[in-house]
Amino acid sequence: MFMGTMSVDDKNHLTIGGCDTVALAHRYGTPLYVLDEHFLRQKARTYRTIFNDLIPGSKVLYAGKALLNSAVCRIMAEEGLGLDVVSGGELYTALTADFPREQIYFHGNNKSSAELKMALERGIGRIVVDNIWELKTLGELAARRGVNVSILIRLTPGVEPNTHSYVRTGQFDSKFGLPINADTTMDAIRQAVDMPGIDLKGFHCHIGSQIMELDAYQKTVRLMIEFLARLKRGLGLTVEELDLGGGLGITYLPDEKSPSLLDYAQAISSALTTSCQKHRLAMPQIAVEPGRSIVGEAGITLYTIGAVKEVPGVRKYVAVDGGMADNPRVAMYGAKYTGCLANRVLDDAEELVTIAGKCCESGDILIRDISLPTVRTGDILAVYATGAYNYSMASNYNRLPRPAMVLVWQGKSDIIVERETYDDLVRLDRIPQRLTEAKAAVVKG
Ligand SMILES: Cc1ncc(COP(=O)(O)O)c(C=O)c1O
Repeated sequence: MFMGTMSVDDKNHLTIGGCDTVALAHRYGTPLYVLDEHFLRQKARTYRTIFNDLIPGSKVLYAGKALLNSAVCRIMAEEGLGLDVVSGGELYTALTADFPREQIYFHGNNKSSAELKMALERGIGRIVVDNIWELKTLGELAARRGVNVSILIRLTPGVEPNTHSYVRTGQFDSKFGLPINADTTMDAIRQAVDMPGIDLKGFHCHIGSQIMELDAYQKTVRLMIEFLARLKRGLGLTVEELDLGGGLGITYLPDEKSPSLLDYAQAISSALTTSCQKHRLAMPQIAVEPGRSIVGEAGITLYTIGAVKEVPGVRKYVAVDGGMADNPRVAMYGAKYTGCLANRVLDDAEELVTIAGKCCESGDILIRDISLPTVRTGDILAVYATGAYNYSMASNYNRLPRPAMVLVWQGKSDIIVERETYDDLVRLDRIPQRLTEAKAAVVKG
């Protein structure tokens, strides 16, 4: 199940971006995140082209929570995408990489005053206001500074797509956004309109992640346009912008089929046209915020196989030098992955094994039941489609240093995130003086 530029060379090694993955593993060490630049750029460009063809003037904002670092910011900016950030840290990363400020949208259900101030000081494009408390805080901060801030208000449309409940966000019972059908939401909108310094540009919604059914998007569009029509009738308010969020699913396994970007854009475009006609509304400026569907399939992770253990009559465990610390999605969501032995790609599959991570949790299993050639210690395992929500969700659990990331392109490889060292792990640790004194007292006394 090759993706992007993945291929096999004459040594029977997996290649990506024209680079031999076994050589990458030896040169940079493992675990190693590898990002396929050509594929990443192609996805970003295709998104932009298709959406602009079907819905002229629309914007594609890359959702940085899927994977953000300075090089990825540069690539997205070069491809003409905007950026969705969700914390001061993501915003800081984008600003440090000189991402065009006006193309940055700031999300989050609990932005701190410090984060909001930072956004105001840096003059970013939009703040996506999640709740009434945030609206008031932002209004006060903007008034104190005498600045105008352009906002969208996040709504929950009451759509529940078929995906893991942890990544479902469009239902009314959600920590995100204001329910589309509540009177209190109308009150909040009135307040926003009346607040000096607040410029309400439009509305936002995001129904969840890893969504395979396009119907859910069409339903969302219908509900959001119906809401805009109600707003026009009720408050006499017409807004210019509608941000429909992200969430399009990708293919993790050979028997899955994710919708194409064209089908997704067509589904949204046709629902928009029909709904706007029905409610006699001018088409708002549309934004979408894909994360996973831009970067997910462009990444793989390389591991070195260590312990191989057979539990007689039960299963064979093959342990790798990473696991839930670099890819927590399996433990968190029961996510499923596939991959190959990167040093023997075309060898016949001979055994069914379970790939275990090295963390102290029985749940640290990366792949349950994968057919591989007979696995040996020292083999290199490539796990596919790890570009999204792996590095960005990685931790130092068990004090494992986070892996490096390399960007590969036409046979060249460049480090874009250095591997953490043991020194990095203790860099922020402090031993209070009194612990040292107490020890001295014990020794003395
Ligand atoms: C507000 C918002 N926009 C966009 C995204 C990106 O979603 P995905 O990576 O599934 O496209 C998310 C992720 O959950 C989100 O919360």
